[in-house]
Amino acid sequence: MATILDIRNLGKTYRSGGKELAVLTDINFSIEEGAAVSIVGPSGSGKTTLLGLCAGLDRASSGSVELNNIRLDDLSEDQRAQVRNRYVGFIFQNFQLLPTLTALENVMVPLELRGEKNIKNQALDLLDKVGLAHRHHHYPAQLSGGEQQRVSLARAFSNRPKILFADEPTGNLDAETSDKVEKLLFDLNQDAGTTLVLVTHNLDLAAKTQRIIRIKGGHIASDELVNSDQLAGNSYQ
Ligand SMILES: Nc1ncnc2c1ncn2[C@@H]1O[C@H](COP(=O)(O)OP(=O)(O)OP(=O)(O)O)[C@@H](O)[C@H]1O
Ligand SMILES: [Mg+2]
Repeated sequence: MATILDIRNLGKTYRSGGKELAVLTDINFSIEEGAAVSIVGPSGSGKTTLLGLCAGLDRASSGSVELNNIRLDDLSEDQRAQVRNRYVGFIFQNFQLLPTLTALENVMVPLELRGEKNIKNQALDLLDKVGLAHRHHHYPAQLSGGEQQRVSLARAFSNRPKILFADEPTGNLDAETSDKVEKLLFDLNQDAGTTLVLVTHNLDLAAKTQRIIRIKGGHIASDELVNSDQLAGNSYQ
């Protein structure tokens, strides 16, 4: 199997109030194409920061990120945006829908960027998959948190990404909707071969992936293959 993501000696430091804050230190791992991997860890441990660096949304302070054999550190902002458009889907913890666009238009954006045809029908199909076709004309402010999350999911899917990063994809959903979203994620993983990298506090969800990387205080505390018997029923805080 080919490697789709290779992270070497990755570090991220923020400067605030004249002080340096090391958020991630010496992170190393790689992920094979088609795998489903979870990243877990306490709040503030650096999971969202790590996901952003892996996806080329942000730049590392040290080390390297290689996505689909492309070294992201060597690229300009525009070049990284191109790599994201071509290969990456991202579901944000805070959704990041464009507030002035309807649900439908939000899902159409990546399709438009790729210069695809028949984008309205494709976007409607995707909204239908997340159970929101009937709300397509609504703006994000008119949707509940869980509904916005599902629009964000449809938008990420519309890119037909080679690798999908999802930051707490079921964090705001009721049990039934959460099951639907999980199924969509794992179907995409199995049917389209999309690599999945999930950040989650829900260990039941994490146990459905093949591998769990645990982050603590900006370091990798453990990186293990899943033994679902052992993990079921627990939840990280
Ligand atoms: N732009 C920034 N400037 C300064 N510090 C930041 C910035 N972004 C994140 N941090 C800090 O980095 C640390 C890690 O944040 P991050 O959002 O990656 O955590 P997380 O593991 O995703 O937490 P949660 O589970 O609550 O989402 C936190 O202490 C946060 O305050
Ligand atoms: Mg986070």
